[in-house]
Amino acid sequence: MRRIEELVRQMTLEEKAGMCSGSDFWHLKGVERLGIPSVMAADGPHGLRRQDEAADHLGINDSICAVCFPSAAGLAASFDRELLRKTGETLGEECQAEDVAVLLGPAINIKRSPLCGRNFEYLSEDPYLSSQLAASYIGGLQSRNVGASVKHFAVNNQEKRRSTVTAQVSERALRELYLASFEGAVREGKPWTVMCSYNRVNGEYVSQSRRLLTDILREEWGFDGFLVTDWSACDERVKGLVAGQDLEMPDSGGVNDRLIVEAVQKGEIEEAVLDQAVARILTIIFRYVDHRDESAQFDREKHHEVAREAACQSMVLLKNDAMADGSRLLPLKKGGRYAFIGSFAKEPRYQGGGSSHINAYRVTNALKECAGYGAIRFAEGFAAEQDATDAVKLAEAVQAAKESDAAVIFAGLPESIESEAYDRDHMRLPACQNELIRAVVSVQPNTVVVLHNGSPVEMPWAEQVPAILESYLAGEAVGEAQAALLFGERNPCGKLAETFPLRVQDNPAWLDFGGSKDVVHYGEGIFVGYRYYDTKEMPVLFPFGHGLGYTEFAYDDLRFDRESLCGEETLEIRFRIRNTGDREGSEAPQVYVHKKDSVISRARQELNGFEKVALAAGEEREVVIRLDRRSFAWYDEEAKAWCVEPGDYEILVGASSRDIRLRGVVTRTDSVLEHWVCHRNTTLGEIMSRPQAAEAYRQFLQEEIGRLPFEGFGSVEGLGEGMRKMAEAIFSDSPLRSLRSFFKGTVDDHFIKRLVDRINGHMDNER
Ligand code: BGC
Repeated sequence: MRRIEELVRQMTLEEKAGMCSGSDFWHLKGVERLGIPSVMAADGPHGLRRQDEAADHLGINDSICAVCFPSAAGLAASFDRELLRKTGETLGEECQAEDVAVLLGPAINIKRSPLCGRNFEYLSEDPYLSSQLAASYIGGLQSRNVGASVKHFAVNNQEKRRSTVTAQVSERALRELYLASFEGAVREGKPWTVMCSYNRVNGEYVSQSRRLLTDILREEWGFDGFLVTDWSACDERVKGLVAGQDLEMPDSGGVNDRLIVEAVQKGEIEEAVLDQAVARILTIIFRYVDHRDESAQFDREKHHEVAREAACQSMVLLKNDAMADGSRLLPLKKGGRYAFIGSFAKEPRYQGGGSSHINAYRVTNALKECAGYGAIRFAEGFAAEQDATDAVKLAEAVQAAKESDAAVIFAGLPESIESEAYDRDHMRLPACQNELIRAVVSVQPNTVVVLHNGSPVEMPWAEQVPAILESYLAGEAVGEAQAALLFGERNPCGKLAETFPLRVQDNPAWLDFGGSKDVVHYGEGIFVGYRYYDTKEMPVLFPFGHGLGYTEFAYDDLRFDRESLCGEETLEIRFRIRNTGDREGSEAPQVYVHKKDSVISRARQELNGFEKVALAAGEEREVVIRLDRRSFAWYDEEAKAWCVEPGDYEILVGASSRDIRLRGVVTRTDSVLEHWVCHRNTTLGEIMSRPQAAEAYRQFLQEEIGRLPFEGFGSVEGLGEGMRKMAEAIFSDSPLRSLRSFFKGTVDDHFIKRLVDRINGHMDNER
């Protein structure tokens, strides 16, 4: 630290201001006379996009040849922290070899709507899953002494008008979902850098929000790296600097550097604010430079193997129904006659468009990779970028399907549909593909659909098609992974990190996704993804956490280390999983928490634990998962704090959010919601629900008046059921000040104030 302070001290004001923006598109500035080198940042997240010439941030121009891993949507489906770590490590090695100090990823915005154009780059609709996987990726990458840049902080859940839109979101949804994904990643992963997003949140640009960039990110979560803007996300440079925006990328041609210099000279900002930003940037530069591995090289073939393993774990077997004879269509038998239909069999879609676009090293395709497994006949079926059916192609495909033992249709979204910078406006596959799938399955009941897409699609044919494999955008080893899974060399083990709704209109954000002009209301609040579908008990196409394989798992023997807990005590959950099939496989058991009889509006269940367990045939293993206070908490806007309701909680262990296998109950004995404060408009019902408050209230009225307005709710007995309920509701919802009308002439505002003080005093004594 002394060395950094010393360097900052020696820098001129101009040099310091200069340090706070790039020297070009990808490089930070250096200061030669002081031995500060210029280092490079490059995209991510699912491969290294190092551009040497003709730089751009939308993936338009080529970058160096690098290994393309599955995009985040697929990686998340692995539910496997180890895999994310390994991917991070591998990318770190490529960065070292290519002299890249900071890789711009992972991207961890919550998938609010399936329509967001960048969903393929994001991990999940669930913040716990997203933050856990992100922390592992960060850990892996940074173990190679290369910095992560967690992006896009925050509430960047659509591409439309991303540079001007304001996301109007409640504090609770912000805390429980949109910030939570970053919170866990920052607290556990300790990223060297965080990238702020383009958009505004509740009216204010994130890039100049002191609350988000400093109060929350640094002071609450302990982030100690540098904060970089998304490329050209800087609005007003000086405001941004004061708020906690250290580095503006790319360069501003010196214009914004001059603004900083002037602001310091005019005394508008303290030089210390600038010094602090520079110190943060220098710390990261030297963290990289001091650990630079000059001899680093990377073996593309080896890394391709990692990408293949990742692809195998990222694909999700959505459906594999028993056929008429009781057997299952997948895995396909070797030696059969198969029709492979669709150009994606030859030219798969394996990554999305925009800044994450990789110049992939070696892309494999299913047609070639499956060649040794049977007699395969190819039919194009449809034109990848078209909506309209090509009658000739369709007829050829149907013919090929008829004359084969089974048909495998390689369907998916055209490249032009999924990309950074714009959203989808529907959730459909091109019409020609839906028509083709229907036509093929009507002549060939043994039909498998293999999908290539970065975000859910509607599947109007799902009932008729017995087997569906979701490949997501699986990276360059897509073909090998598909071959291994289709023919049973490997057992599918991915689970959906997002819900697949039946239709886009079912999605809770449907009504206001995209927004009007520059405002988008997050009207669904905390009910995003399965939090909405499961609470509403809505039918979905495939639920969160769902994924099949070629073996079965039995869940058994759920135990807790305690029956009740409070405060910071943790709960240890144990259960056993057994592979009951006759082949190896991996399962991702999920732990959800459900508050029974909550008085708070809450989702039916929330994911708070998961594990990935590999088991040989017949093998059994105990899984241990620990829940902490946060696993039970909700964010109370009034108290501005995470609070825990006392009472019973159901712990649900499942193979998906809709396939709960084990249940147990644990009791939280925490005293009332912390931070509760009584005031003149606190309702009598709220007071009565807190024993200490109720006691203080009764005592005071007895002392001062000698009686209560109603003795609890008791005095309304004797009324008819409807009247009694009404009287109770009126009493319960009456604010404390209404005692003025219950005791007309006796109770005045001064009396109410004394009563409020008594109740709060009593609560304080109890705390
Ligand atoms: C994207 C970022 C990316 C940056 C640099 C921006 O358009 O939003 O994710 O890291 O460009 O390419």
